[in-house]
Amino acid sequence: MEKKKARPVSFSKTTITELMIPSYANFGGKIHGGILLSLMDKVAFAAASKHSGAYCVTVSVDIVDFLQPVSVGELVSLKASVNYVGNSSMVVGIKVIAEDVKNSKVKHTNTSYFTMVAKGEDDKPTQVPKLILENERDVRRFLEAIFRKKLKKDHASSMEKMKQNWDKEEMSKLLENERCIIES
Ligand SMILES: CC(C)(COP(=O)(O)OP(=O)(O)OC[C@H]1O[C@@H](n2cnc3c(N)ncnc32)[C@H](O)[C@@H]1OP(=O)(O)O)[C@@H](O)C(=O)NCCC(=O)NCCS
Repeated sequence: MEKKKARPVSFSKTTITELMIPSYANFGGKIHGGILLSLMDKVAFAAASKHSGAYCVTVSVDIVDFLQPVSVGELVSLKASVNYVGNSSMVVGIKVIAEDVKNSKVKHTNTSYFTMVAKGEDDKPTQVPKLILENERDVRRFLEAIFRKKLKKDHASSMEKMKQNWDKEEMSKLLENERCIIES
């Protein structure tokens, strides 16, 4: 039984724009990755809580590749939308772009997927509204989230299987061409 009315993707689309100030930067004048991660967490929370109408927590972050550095003085915009909903979980896709306002240059710095879980008054996961997919892109993103979930599960079980087969000899063989020295 659905407790809440379905909501379209557009209902919770959120953009945060923030100026990159010197206190966000390292000695080289480039912005710390952690600052961008914190902003991504904020925008993911905003989109997920709008969709669910509930308090949300971050449960998992998929894919964080910083493709290009961000500099002090640039305007960073984080565009978030709910890509997928399960029962209590939501996958929020976030695209991060940085703009140098003086020359209108825009660069794509990363795309990431945050899984957020809605919590009820009892602090337990609570059901979120179904997602209304308004166009082909929404449908594609929903499907992609399902595939990423499956790939993550497959990856975890392959990793587990592989680790079970490692003995000392096998590990040394696997590390033969790596840049490490085994001392023990
Ligand atoms: C998120 C949390 C509530 C899940 O609790 P739980 O007892 O595992 O609850 P469930 O097993 O019912 O999982 C709830 C949902 O989270 C999803 N989930 C749990 N762990 C997950 C993971 N590692 N990756 C993706 N989704 C996950 C489940 O698939 C489920 O989704 P669904 O309801 O859409 O089917 C709990 O792990 C938690 O509170 N974690 C800490 C979150 C937090 O504090 N975040 C801030 C970071 S400091």
